[in-house]
Amino acid sequence: MSDPASRVAALRSRKAARRKIVMVTAYDFVSARVVARAGADVVLVGDSAANTVLGYSSTRDVSLDEMTMLAAAVKRGLAAGAAAESAGGAQPLLVGDMPYGTYERDDVTAVETARRFRAVGCDAVKLEGAGPSASRVRAIVAAGIPVMGHVGLLPQQASGALRARARTAREALGLARDARELEAAGCFAIVFEAIPAAVSALVVPTLGVPVIGIGAGGATDGQVLVFHDIVGLTDGRTPRFVKRYATLLSEMVTAVAAFASDVRAGTYPEEAHQYGMEDGELERLREALGE
Ligand code: KIV
Repeated sequence: MSDPASRVAALRSRKAARRKIVMVTAYDFVSARVVARAGADVVLVGDSAANTVLGYSSTRDVSLDEMTMLAAAVKRGLAAGAAAESAGGAQPLLVGDMPYGTYERDDVTAVETARRFRAVGCDAVKLEGAGPSASRVRAIVAAGIPVMGHVGLLPQQASGALRARARTAREALGLARDARELEAAGCFAIVFEAIPAAVSALVVPTLGVPVIGIGAGGATDGQVLVFHDIVGLTDGRTPRFVKRYATLLSEMVTAVAAFASDVRAGTYPEEAHQYGMEDGELERLREALGE
């Protein structure tokens, strides 16, 4: 299963067979290798990279050059992860998140951006919103690149606190309309972010394409979480939907602090960490140095 079309088809089959889809973000070689080995179906190089790995305060701050650099590293990590899992093992579907300001203006710009992600090995791209974004979806799909949609909370457009959406019937109807518009425009899957579980339960069955939820309850066809949240690399408050499966940040601090303390105490390096010389070479060196 090596081309984008067959990977997209595999997602559709998962939905048809009611097998949940697992999507995880990855931002570099290491996280990509982890998610490939863990058996994710879809890997998203999310613009959440702005916060998780680049230290910006908003997803609006990450550039296309930065995103494609990260996506290329993720592609290499997926290849390494899949190869480690089984010789020539299948790689997950790789989706590149089109950053703020790189697709909104017009269809031509949107297609150019999508091609940048394809050029570094992404199978598909994701963009946020409906309305004008639906037109961008049609143009990118017409250029032969699969597109994932995104409705509900749209971090690129949200200002201030990232609050849940579609909590009123009016807003929920708007979300249902947006999702249907994106499906009609040709999206192969849609992300529902931060909406009530009851809204997903009503809207998901009206759609033919897989819906992947993040804070959207259990009725979606799959779930996505941010890699750093899953493994506990994020600090401070996390959104309500985050479930931590490890606490790597504190483990990493403990490990580096232990190294620092060994160095200061002179207990690192030990014999086992040192190189020896070839037979007789130490004596020769001593003589040459006049010892
Ligand atoms: O950027 C991102 O990580 C995302 C997902 C969490 C859906 O858009």
